Amino acid sequence: MVPRNTVLPRHIGIIMDGNGRWASKRGLPRSAGHAKGADVFRDICRYCEQLGIEALTTYAFSTENWTRSKDEVDSIMNILRRYLKDAFGLEGETIRVRFIGRRDRLAPDILDLMNEIEEGSKDNPGLILNIAVDYGGRDEIVSAAKRAAVLLRDGEIKEEDITEELIDSYTFTSCCPPLDLLLRPSGEQRISNFMLWQCAYAEFVYMDVLWPDFTRKDLDAAIEEFGRRNRRFGGR
Ligand code: IPE
Ligand code: IPE
Ligand code: MG
Repeated sequence: MVPRNTVLPRHIGIIMDGNGRWASKRGLPRSAGHAKGADVFRDICRYCEQLGIEALTTYAFSTENWTRSKDEVDSIMNILRRYLKDAFGLEGETIRVRFIGRRDRLAPDILDLMNEIEEGSKDNPGLILNIAVDYGGRDEIVSAAKRAAVLLRDGEIKEEDITEELIDSYTFTSCCPPLDLLLRPSGEQRISNFMLWQCAYAEFVYMDVLWPDFTRKDLDAAIEEFGRRNRRFGGR
């Protein structure tokens, strides 16, 4: 647990990266890394809920990840299916699960499971968990721009109505507090198209641990690091 007086981030984003390297190091297929990563994901969600974090957004599959081999994409989708079947909507669960990202390229049975979980958990009072599947930050911004363009064309809004607040209201995270902390395990130090709009004043923490090895203690360390940061938001 983090020390009592630590300032907690209200909204954490996690790029769950390093599954493939974790598996290769052990001579296992990449799918084994994705499966272990999925277990860690579940545990970290529960831990965020216990800590009292308001929102957690996790990057599970990017708009670019479709370019991987068919075998790997299939194995990720199968793990997702299995997880959607077991992991959420359990009796006593208080997490509110949302899926963010494109909905036009996923298999119909996966979409049905997603809708079922969202519907079944929508009134839960706890952590808001956004799971990013077929998500890209650029795609999210383009969709918001298109929505504004259609309203402008139809005369429902004027040019001066297109503000940061309006575009923000068209993002997937409009119901969440601003992103405070963006965490990337795996040693890579890049955003890889995650939450580009929301990152404006987020604090970044990069960690050397691979996602399947990530523990509650690693999250504590990231939150403590966040608590030591001096956030200025462009002011003095
Ligand atoms: C993250 O792990 C999971 C997905 C992108 C779906 P990777 O599969 O990217 O693992 P590395 O980065 O190759 O180790
Ligand atoms: C980002 O990781 C996507 C997810 C973790 C789902 P990638 O492994 O796809 O990103 P790059 O290729 O290292 O930038
Ligand atoms: Mg990767």
